[in-house]
Amino acid sequence: MAVIDVALAGRAYDVTIEAGLLDRIGEWATDYLPAPDRKVPFVADTNTHRIFAERVDKALNSAGHTADWFVVEPGEGAKSWAVLERLTDWLLALGVTRSDRVFALGGGVVGDLTGFACAVMKRGCGFVQIPTTLLAQVDSSVGGKTAINTGAGKNLIGAFHQPSAVLIDPLVLNTLPDRDMRAGYAEVIKYGALGDIGFFEWLEKNAADVLAREPVALSHAIATSIRAKAKIVAEDERETTGVRALLNLGHTFGHALEAETGFSDRLLHGEAVALGMVLAARYSARREEMTAVDADRVETAIAASGLRSKITELQMRCNGERLVDHMRHDKKMESDHLPFLLLKGIGAAYMARNVALSDVAAFLDAELERA
Ligand code: GLY
Repeated sequence: MAVIDVALAGRAYDVTIEAGLLDRIGEWATDYLPAPDRKVPFVADTNTHRIFAERVDKALNSAGHTADWFVVEPGEGAKSWAVLERLTDWLLALGVTRSDRVFALGGGVVGDLTGFACAVMKRGCGFVQIPTTLLAQVDSSVGGKTAINTGAGKNLIGAFHQPSAVLIDPLVLNTLPDRDMRAGYAEVIKYGALGDIGFFEWLEKNAADVLAREPVALSHAIATSIRAKAKIVAEDERETTGVRALLNLGHTFGHALEAETGFSDRLLHGEAVALGMVLAARYSARREEMTAVDADRVETAIAASGLRSKITELQMRCNGERLVDHMRHDKKMESDHLPFLLLKGIGAAYMARNVALSDVAAFLDAELERA
């Protein structure tokens, strides 16, 4: 078992990583329920409900509790005003108070939606994240970013609202499709690439074991990732000093690729981040800020995990200017420029503020030809 403290004054919480935790969720509910006769509000999507609800119900019942379930359709469509309205109405009807904890059982969509609903529920009630994808375990469940999407873009309406606890059972990943496992793994590599060369080297040797869900390797990868994220969040909770922005390594390029592929199953978010990290590394090498050898290492680590590492593999019909145009709509765009996360080496990400978008477009034109 590993317990990682997210050290935020007044809002500190633990991330607990423990194999089999889901079957002991009743004990956690007891800790987080204000009154034992209350039902425990659980939000899930139809997939996590189908796979885990029976076990959760059994674990809760054996501790004397009952779950009340709010189940949404899987996918980004659930992060909408309409679903938020239904969820908040449901929580109000349940009589949820500020000191209650709402449990979010699922991936990033369920976590983001539930977190945002709890941020606005009676001006803020508690919630507990039980992430069921690797991506949610190592990234979205920790750090308090919550949001829904609107027609204008993804995650544009949201709040920073920290969970009361994050409960991670690595065994739940045994039912995660391999593609989603790999997509989450991209965010794991990100922690090595952005700030920890030792972890990056460990991943170069142990990727296959992590992806095969070998328990010791997997728990180490999850715990190391969360430790890195917890440290960054504790330093810069609201992304104001530039420290938390380091977590966006690969995201600016990745966002453009997601936009060009229609935010669809053609390219999952983690897959876009993987390609975006390769592009950030190669662009850093083009600017002679990191060596071509290190940029190749980033690409090799991504490709070795079965993720696409060249944008030609996406078979997009576009040019660099069009991809840069997507970046101009990125919410990180400042008044006249876009800060870029680049690398001075593996484990040494930094925010470049002097990037000319015309140069990025020329670079992407070359990448779109690279076989
Ligand atoms: N996923 C990036 C962050 O939490 O800041």
